[in-house]
Amino acid sequence: MKLIDGKATADEIKKEIAEEVKQIKAAGGKTPHLAAVLVGHDGGSETYVASKVKACEEVGFDSSLIRFEDDVTEEELLKTVDKLNNDPDVDGFIVQLPLPKHISEHKVIEAIDPRKDVDGFHPINLGRMALELPSFVSATPAGILMLLRKYKINPHGANVVVLGRSHIVGKPIALLLMQKRTCGDATVTVCHSQTRNIKEICLDADIIIAAIGVPEFLKGDMVKEGVVVIDVGTTRVPSTETKSGFKLKGDVAFDEVAPKASYITPVPGGVGPMTIVSLLKNTLLAAKKEIYN
Ligand code: GUN
Repeated sequence: MKLIDGKATADEIKKEIAEEVKQIKAAGGKTPHLAAVLVGHDGGSETYVASKVKACEEVGFDSSLIRFEDDVTEEELLKTVDKLNNDPDVDGFIVQLPLPKHISEHKVIEAIDPRKDVDGFHPINLGRMALELPSFVSATPAGILMLLRKYKINPHGANVVVLGRSHIVGKPIALLLMQKRTCGDATVTVCHSQTRNIKEICLDADIIIAAIGVPEFLKGDMVKEGVVVIDVGTTRVPSTETKSGFKLKGDVAFDEVAPKASYITPVPGGVGPMTIVSLLKNTLLAAKKEIYN
């Protein structure tokens, strides 16, 4: 079994980004700028956004954080999106999800200028991605592809099982892995809460991407020898072992699955750091106007 080290891979890529930013600045270019909008005080969202801001500092990007309380109106949020769309200093921005129930996530995402949608959540970016046209690819799926490439895991012709059909991970990673391209060409099966025979489907998988948000869902008896397992789960569970009082649990029963796997990502330190780095990469692409020009 080989552990896929997302943290080390992300650190390497961050160094490359930092080098490129240095060169842009030395040539008198504009410093890439990522803005994040955070509504409320959800613990997970706070942690994610803080990591994104910190990563910006590490690579030399400018960053800004715009915070609202839970009771912000949809109108106010849409006004902020409009402002960021029209701010020439901001190259890309994200609105951290989930949003409070009284705000339509669809409305907010659709209000984002696709040229600044570094999360790749806008229907135009998702649609372009599905059609294999240049687009911003959402950060977690892009991070997973980077890990597969880095560890020379070729999905060509492989049976890939994606657990979960979210707009952020399950759907886009399924689309990407079935595309006619390098790091694609897989036979993809998407399982979800209504799938009847998940265990049999998983037992036939060469690669499993677990993204359902159910801690330790994928057990040892659900995988075959030599399987590659990518764990996207990051559920916070209470813990007395950490200062914060919680720890992150993946969707994979690691101790049972790891002995059978050829490659496996840990939680934390697997997909998570790659998500952040993909967001930085997208911001650099936005700053350089490489997707839309
Ligand atoms: N909530 C969970 N993951 C993400 C993400 O990648 N981007 C945003 N904006 N919100 C999220």
